[in-house]
Amino acid sequence: MNKIGQDISFAKQTLDREGLVAIPTETVYGLGGNAFAEEAVLSIFKAKNRPSFDPLICHTSSMDRLDLMVRHLPNAMFDLGKAFWPGPMTLLLPKKLIVPDLVTSGLPTVGVRIPRHEMTRELLAQLDYPVAAPSANPFGYISPTSAQHVADQLGDHVDYILDGGSSQVGVESTIIGLSGDHIVVHRLGGLSLEEIEDVSKSKVQLQVNNSSNPVAPGMLKSHYAPKVPCHVGNIEELLKDFEGKKVGIISFKEDRTDSSALHISLSKQGNLQEAAKNLFSALRTMDYNSIDVILAEFVPDQGLGRAINDRLRRASVAS
Ligand code: TXA
Ligand code: MG
Repeated sequence: MNKIGQDISFAKQTLDREGLVAIPTETVYGLGGNAFAEEAVLSIFKAKNRPSFDPLICHTSSMDRLDLMVRHLPNAMFDLGKAFWPGPMTLLLPKKLIVPDLVTSGLPTVGVRIPRHEMTRELLAQLDYPVAAPSANPFGYISPTSAQHVADQLGDHVDYILDGGSSQVGVESTIIGLSGDHIVVHRLGGLSLEEIEDVSKSKVQLQVNNSSNPVAPGMLKSHYAPKVPCHVGNIEELLKDFEGKKVGIISFKEDRTDSSALHISLSKQGNLQEAAKNLFSALRTMDYNSIDVILAEFVPDQGLGRAINDRLRRASVAS
């Protein structure tokens, strides 16, 4: 049987027997396994080469099913769930004992997400367990936004790849927790701060970044990195430093006809949604074309632009 396909019942059978299935979501593709089956969870960590201190997000199909894994839902979190699920948002919620410590890396909370992608929701609705799914990329590399991206890198480790087309949002979910009464954003993502504040009617705290932040241990600075070194800043200035190199340029909207070997503009119309959707495949294309260095520029720091700039910063740190 072909490894990439659209067979939801085969995906279900594979998960039921504790195999791994790559699932399409509107943010990025996930590498899914039965969250209640330790063997399946272990094989996720192994496939990604992911350290065990980096917890996994659990996916389910609707808010009615949260009590599968969540002890209680604080009011502020309920309001966010009602407003933004299904969608590109993960809430950190008090976990039930049934959720293995392996999934949460020993934390008392579990990251929960109800994705919007129809195919995956249909699959999740047929399961009596949540699906643990990190982004389906080797640890530290760029997240996949198509079935082919998953096949390219994790093809040998996954039993089936459910092909739901290219991810419409293109950056990972926004991760939100509570600290006392305050809403705290632990990872910028597909849901913007402005949208959250509209619903919460209060200013949210930002606690993203770095490897020393124990609440979101996976937010290591070197995440989302292409193999090719990446520099972010003023492209004209950067070009002077890399004369004679095979340069790849990722601009926001500007179309360039210059000496770069490869140029991708994220959105010719200057639309941040479109730019987010194209970001990871642009970085990947640079890698696939084995250029020497990627030069990129920041986008306006508002709405989804904040998540894009965060990913660009992280892509460049490892270089
Ligand atoms: O959009 C997404 O969120 C995608 C799709 C597949 O749902 N998933 C994703 O998973 O990006 P992953 O594993 O690549 O990133 C999850 C992040 C990690 O940084 C992890 O540390 C954090 O979520 N996380 C998960 N559970 C957590 C918890 N209980 N407390 C704090 N951080 C948590
Ligand atoms: Mg990831």
